[in-house]
Amino acid sequence: MKLFVTGVAGFIGSNFVYYWLSHHSHDEIIGLDKLTYAGNLHNLEALSREQKGRFRFIRGDIGDIGLVHEILEKNAVDKIVNFAAESHVDRSILDPQVFLRSNILGTACLLDAARDFWKSGDSWLPEKRFLQVSTDEVYGSLGPTGFFTEKTPLDPHSPYSASKASADLLAKAYHDTFGLPVLITRCSNNYGPYQFPEKLIPLMIYNALHHQPLPVYGDGKQIRDWLYVEDHCRAIECVLESGKLGEIYNVGGNNEHYNIDIVRLIISQLKQETRDPEINDSLIRHVTDRPGHDRRYAIDSSKIQKELGWKPETPFEKGINTTLCWYLDHPEWMQQVMTGEYRKFNEEHVQ
Ligand code: NAD
Ligand code: DAU
Repeated sequence: MKLFVTGVAGFIGSNFVYYWLSHHSHDEIIGLDKLTYAGNLHNLEALSREQKGRFRFIRGDIGDIGLVHEILEKNAVDKIVNFAAESHVDRSILDPQVFLRSNILGTACLLDAARDFWKSGDSWLPEKRFLQVSTDEVYGSLGPTGFFTEKTPLDPHSPYSASKASADLLAKAYHDTFGLPVLITRCSNNYGPYQFPEKLIPLMIYNALHHQPLPVYGDGKQIRDWLYVEDHCRAIECVLESGKLGEIYNVGGNNEHYNIDIVRLIISQLKQETRDPEINDSLIRHVTDRPGHDRRYAIDSSKIQKELGWKPETPFEKGINTTLCWYLDHPEWMQQVMTGEYRKFNEEHVQ
């Protein structure tokens, strides 16, 4: 089987490439990535020689219709998994336009190309699947109780989440109007190796290790549901293999935490691992809150659990410890990302 995976040099995309190539020994992946600030080819360096033989990287924009057409024309692609997106809420508040271009128009471009190449006469070729990787943020914000289900109305609050909701609606429209074999997953907050240190967990790890202040937005009592990235990759595998076409599947860790507790947990685990007395709660700084900040996310993933048999497997304390140890073991990765040095490597290693 040949997969066309976008956003492969980012956090979840690169984890997915490792996951898929090690669990599907006959499959090949064509990976497309624009290599924005968040795309890092170092993230794929640990592929084995054999896995590299089944992986081809192409630098490019999902919104480049000519390129995407060429890829689908030249390759008999069975599945498309679209991770490529601008993914950081704070950046979407500073500059929404690029989010609209990549996340909405880029997705539309991929959908159009799939529509053009996946038909034989009037019928769709069998086994073709287009999986749009989406987020629980499209549902908006919850009060202290309740969960997002697949039927919760969309109510995005940031330009990022609005762009992801728009992409979901387009994907659904291509299924409903043209019959394109589309699937949508909506996942909660991921954590794990290779996450760009602008997101809460890796940023706190980096800052604590460098004795820098740990910025907690507002009172830190916002709640997120956290899922280890490999569990997310497994959920995508389940949906690709057994999901019902046109359906949405929520994916969550059933693992809610206040942001402030996450920061304290990172401090305490890092203190244990490093024995550095300067890593302590005095580094915490409550700073101005994010505009439009969603208070609570909590996701009901009973549909994927009941229908497809997926469930989260990584206990949070273990996942956080694995993550933290990965960052401790890869100081050069962290340094390259924080200084922008990885961009040189990207330039030298693109085809
Ligand atoms: P990321 O920012 O780490 O990676 C995104 C990747 O996409 C980067 O490599 C970037 O270079 C690439 N990219 C951006 N615009 C592109 C374009 N126009 N063309 C081609 N490549 C482009 O993001 P991530 O955290 O890995 O998220 C991946 C996907 O998963 C996104 O669609 C995001 O909305 C979704 N998601 C993320 C989370 C999370 O917690 N991180 C949770 C749920 C869903
Ligand atoms: O829920 C899924 C979403 O999770 C994904 O769709 C997004 O791509 C991903 O970035 C993530 O969005 P969040 O906004 O929840 O993630 P972030 O790591 O930016 O922030 C997590 C929480 O921590 C949020 O409530 C804001 C807060 N925060 C974040 C940063 C970076 C802080 O308090 N301080 C910070 O410095």
